[in-house]
Amino acid sequence: MSTFTAKMVSLAWNHNGFHHRQSKVSKPHARKPTLPNAPSSTLIRTPETYAIPPEKIEVFKSLEGWVSKCILPLVKPVEQSWQPLDFLPDSSLPDEDFNDKLRALRDRTAELPDDYFVVLVGDMITEEALPTYQTRLNQLDGVADKTGSSTSPWAVWSRAWTAEENRHGDLLRTYLYLSGRVDMRMIERTIHYLIAAGMECDVDKNPYMGFVYTSFQERATFISHGNTARLAKENGDPVLARICGTIAADEKRHENAYTKIVEKLLEVDPTETVVAISNMMRKGITMPAHLMQDGKDPRLFNHFARVAQRLGVYTVADYADILEFLIDRWKLEKIQDLTSEGRRAQDFVCGLAPKIRRFQERAAERADKTETHSVKFSWIFNKEVSLI
Ligand SMILES: [Fe+2]
Ligand SMILES: [Fe+2]
Repeated sequence: MSTFTAKMVSLAWNHNGFHHRQSKVSKPHARKPTLPNAPSSTLIRTPETYAIPPEKIEVFKSLEGWVSKCILPLVKPVEQSWQPLDFLPDSSLPDEDFNDKLRALRDRTAELPDDYFVVLVGDMITEEALPTYQTRLNQLDGVADKTGSSTSPWAVWSRAWTAEENRHGDLLRTYLYLSGRVDMRMIERTIHYLIAAGMECDVDKNPYMGFVYTSFQERATFISHGNTARLAKENGDPVLARICGTIAADEKRHENAYTKIVEKLLEVDPTETVVAISNMMRKGITMPAHLMQDGKDPRLFNHFARVAQRLGVYTVADYADILEFLIDRWKLEKIQDLTSEGRRAQDFVCGLAPKIRRFQERAAERADKTETHSVKFSWIFNKEVSLI
């Protein structure tokens, strides 16, 4: 039995599904549902040892030509890319024209509900912590940008991805600022706190796990921005709907890139990749902005996540849905040429989604009875928003 499974593992729902918490002492009669046992495997490493051996770095070196041919074309050339200004009042317009555009924006956003703003702000803050994500990418073995301007196709991709992502926070932030509906000082403080706090993505320097994480996350953000687009449209702001839809389309393209990378890794190194997927799912995919705080609400992230759940922007069901989507996308059930360790990891991952759903049902029943019903959000001038 691995060290991991010898410990009690409990799961708490977070914005992205589950957050794993380990206690040091085994609690056989604990009431909380437990994560199904992971396969025992010499390849399943403890968090300190997820790092890959030197020969595995060669796998990534050998794929550089493939990245140039199959991944870099998924980057959009700058001249053909949208920019935030395409969706915003142009500040170079004469005063009167600019004021008209600003008034139109404020008229459109005036009717959007407070809870919608909570979710949109939380999504924007998540995008704004981009320095953390680029830092994390550059810690992965074999794909990191070692010089800051490396010509390795892996590094070229990471910088291009960052440049595309950078527009997401910029655009949402400016739109929210101009709306006048949100407390920008509290939002800016939250971003400041979040970037200073970093993120919980304990995959060591393991690029296999890193790309599984990014595959999952890009799909999660695609779903989330797609739903904020739908709600903006339903609530009478077609421009905001277009903004969120355009960002969602970027996330989808990024999801395509990262899932393609994992697909390729499954082809060239199936056992290591399946085990990485298993390890990642066993740890749980935490949301990148999990450590957000505003200096006021110690459970800010949880509260934001619950509003997102209530509005159907990002729900607990999405976690299992994404897992099922990826299992299907990577044809995990059909992967051959695995060692016995790989086969156990494969069985674990392929059987996980129904177990997660059962856990979610039990967690939801419990949450309804015990958790807070409404909370004040500093982001919207301490207005109260229902959580259930
Ligand atoms: Fe994004
Ligand atoms: Fe993204």
